[in-house]
Amino acid sequence: MSNSSPLAGKRIVLGVGGGIAAYKSVELMRRLVDAGAFVSPVLTRASLRFVGKTTFSALGSEPVRTSLWDAADPIPHTRLAQQADAIILAPATADLIARYATGIADDLLTTTLVATKAPVVVVAAMHTEMWQHPSVVENIATLRKRGVVVIEPEVGRLAGGDNGVGRLAATEKVLAAVEELFSGGRGQILHGKKVLVTAGGTREAIDPVRYLGNRSSGKQGIAFAAAAATFGAEVTLVSTVPVPESLGLKVVSVESAQDMFDAVSTEAAQCDLVVMAAAVADFRCKEISPVKIKKSQGAPQVVLEPTPDILAFLGSAKPGHQVLVGFAAETGELEAEARRKLREKHADFIVANNVAEHDAGFAVDTNRVTLVYEGSALALDLADKRRIAEKVLGFVAEWARNKGVWKDQG
Ligand code: CTP
Repeated sequence: MSNSSPLAGKRIVLGVGGGIAAYKSVELMRRLVDAGAFVSPVLTRASLRFVGKTTFSALGSEPVRTSLWDAADPIPHTRLAQQADAIILAPATADLIARYATGIADDLLTTTLVATKAPVVVVAAMHTEMWQHPSVVENIATLRKRGVVVIEPEVGRLAGGDNGVGRLAATEKVLAAVEELFSGGRGQILHGKKVLVTAGGTREAIDPVRYLGNRSSGKQGIAFAAAAATFGAEVTLVSTVPVPESLGLKVVSVESAQDMFDAVSTEAAQCDLVVMAAAVADFRCKEISPVKIKKSQGAPQVVLEPTPDILAFLGSAKPGHQVLVGFAAETGELEAEARRKLREKHADFIVANNVAEHDAGFAVDTNRVTLVYEGSALALDLADKRRIAEKVLGFVAEWARNKGVWKDQG
């Protein structure tokens, strides 16, 4: 990285928690320094059981601090907190996360966290059981609600020979997130906006046991909701699939197209942006059997009828301050079909994706989409679904302000 990096000249406090992954933050620190950042390492007492001060002092921009009571500088936490452009916690242990979430300030690192106005990036690493414990889940949700950037642990080999989620995220991923802080990628572009997102495939009951469904996992919709929240929006997510509590989102759980229609139509009018990422069934059973259909009765005749088209309904009732984004899951004529849906449903954008590709569409973590709108189209490269959501939201927000649909300047 050269000094054209967005990190050049930035003051970063690197807080190191007491976990086995502490050794990896040495590499992270070196990369931050290489990118031109001024890195102040702050090690917790527990971290010193895993790593030594010497390495961090040698590779950091100034010597390690570990205590509020280091002699020469009587108020290092306020100085660190005020001067920092960002604070990174890597590894952030369950204990460090809990203390930060509850505002405990009993050592140099936690006092700095409580005293700072700088953005904070939490790079979590711990055993799977701890990461999934309700207390950690709640603390992470609390931090996200406060605008803290959380980089979740990755799946892989853990200390003690276990395998599972818990490994510190790759250095590249952490660097990318920190760079984004300074390149405007995570700006509050949706601050003050109400955003409604739908996610998942609807289930249309046949009887109390069976349903008609589709392959949607809800991942892209959830990524849109999470990205919108990070951009400062007040988000409601209407979902047919469970949503990780750690995302801290307001979720309305629904099952059928009709449930989704009811939930969306009560919320939509006040919203500045609606993203219909859900795979809504086009047809439902005309009659739902109130009891389980028995095999002995022979193959049933299932008569279908259309469901309400939610996107088309929203398009016909769209208030002047609202941007409407639909999806098109296609296996053939991508752009032509997306354009037809744009026109017929009166949407402002259609996010078109080819669900027949192995690395895009249903269930996978990546996507490749084309954003189709009046007169033009923007093809986005393959990226993870969160990144796709960020790019689409960034583009849509700029369009809405340029068009005067949103009157604020963002
Ligand atoms: N949609 C909706 N209500 C429906 C069906 C679809 O709101 N009953 C929305 C989807 O959420 C998506 C967009 O319409 O944003 C397009 O969905 P898609 O399934 O691709 O298209 P259809 O309208 O169902 O058309 P076709 O089946 O012919 O592709």
